[in-house]
Amino acid sequence: ALWRHLAPSAQRVNQNVYKNLQPQASYKVAVLGAAGGIGQPLSLLIKMSPLISTLNLYDIANVKGVAADISHCNTPSKVQAFTGPSELANALKDVDVVVIPAGVPRKPGMTRDDLFNINAGIVKTLVEAVADNCPDAFIHIISNPVNSTVPIAAEVLKQKGVFDPKKLFGVTTLDVVRANTFVAEKKNLKLIDVDVPVVGGHAGITILPLLSKTQPSVSFTDEEVQALTVRIQNAGTEVVEAKAGAGSATLSMAYAAARFVESSLRALDGDSDVYECTFVQSDLTELPFFASRVKLGRKGIEAFVTSDLQGLTEYEEKALEALKPELKASIEKGIAFTQKPS
Ligand code: NAD
Ligand code: LMR
Repeated sequence: ALWRHLAPSAQRVNQNVYKNLQPQASYKVAVLGAAGGIGQPLSLLIKMSPLISTLNLYDIANVKGVAADISHCNTPSKVQAFTGPSELANALKDVDVVVIPAGVPRKPGMTRDDLFNINAGIVKTLVEAVADNCPDAFIHIISNPVNSTVPIAAEVLKQKGVFDPKKLFGVTTLDVVRANTFVAEKKNLKLIDVDVPVVGGHAGITILPLLSKTQPSVSFTDEEVQALTVRIQNAGTEVVEAKAGAGSATLSMAYAAARFVESSLRALDGDSDVYECTFVQSDLTELPFFASRVKLGRKGIEAFVTSDLQGLTEYEEKALEALKPELKASIEKGIAFTQKPS
C-alpha cells in the first residue's frame, strides 16, 4: 500500500492516505539505530504502513525526539522510544520484524569492509539481544559490511541455539532499486514495470545485476551491460562521494528498507505473491551465503528462485565466478569474528 502513494493521481493518494488510517493488521516492528541517517526516514516511512500496530524505535542516543516527532503522524501504529542497552530488551519484546541500520557509514576513500571493526561488534551485541528477546522475528540487517555482518548474525543466533536461516536477511533491496532506476532511465521504460534481480553480495563486484533477467525483457548492447553493471556496483560510492564526508546513502536506503519491511509484513500477513532479492544462507552456489531472489511467506523464506541463476550470459557467468573469492573471504571474516573470545 505504501508504494501506491507514489502514484501521481491526487485522488489515488487521498484514497490511500485514508486507507492507511485504517489498521489492516497488527504487527510489531523494531528499528535498532532509529535516530541515524537511515533510521529516521526509515522509521517515518514504516509509520505509514497500515500493517503495523507498534513501532519500537531504539538507539543509543537522540531517539526520544525522533519518536515524539514521528508519533504525531495520524497513522495507526503506536510509536515508542527506547534509549541505551538497559532498554533494548523491552524494545524487542514480542516483535515480529527487527530492522538493524545501527553502525557507522563510509566516508570517501573507504570500502564497506573498512567499517568492519566498529560495526561487527555493534551487530553482534544487537543480534544477541534479538536472540534473547524475539528469536522468532524476521531480522533485517542493513549495517555494513553486509557480506560479513549477516554471517556474524547467523553465528550469534547459532551460538544462542535459535538460528532460523529462513528468517535472517541481509538487506540488498537498494541494489535492486538502483538497478531498476538506472535500467528504466537508460532504456526509456516505465519505472513501475522494471524489475532487475541483483545477486551475489553487497559490496563492489560482489553486487551482480542480472540484466539478462530484466523484466520486461529488454536487450542491451555489450557496452550498455558493462556501463550499467559498473554503475550499479559503484552506486553506493557515487553517493558517498557526492556527500563528501557527510555519510552514505540514507534516503534511498530508507526507501529500499521500507519496501523490504512492507514485503515482509505482507508475507507474514499471508500474501502468497511476495518476492525480494536478499543476502541469506543459501545452497544456490558453493558459498554459504548468497543474495538472490526468494519467495517470502509466513515463516520467512518459502523458496529460492533458482531460475535466476540458470541460462546466464557469458558476461554474467564470468562475473559470478569473479565475485566468489571476495564474497567467500568476507563471509569467513564475519564467521571468524564470532569465534574469537570477546
Ligand atoms: P548514521 O551514523 O547516520 O546512523 C547510525 C545510527 O546507529 C546512529 O543513530 C547511532 O547512534 C546508532 N548506533 C550506533 N551504535 C549503536 C548501537 N550499539 N545500538 C544502537 N544504535 C547504535 O549511519 P547511517 O547512514 O544510518 O548508516 C548506518 C549503517 O547502514 C552503516 O553501516 C551503513 O554503511 C549501512 N548502510 C547499508 C546499506 C545497505 O544497502 N545495506 C545502505 C546504506 C547504508
Ligand atoms: C550503499 O550501497 O549505499 C551502502 O552500502 C552504503 C555504502 O557504504 O555504500
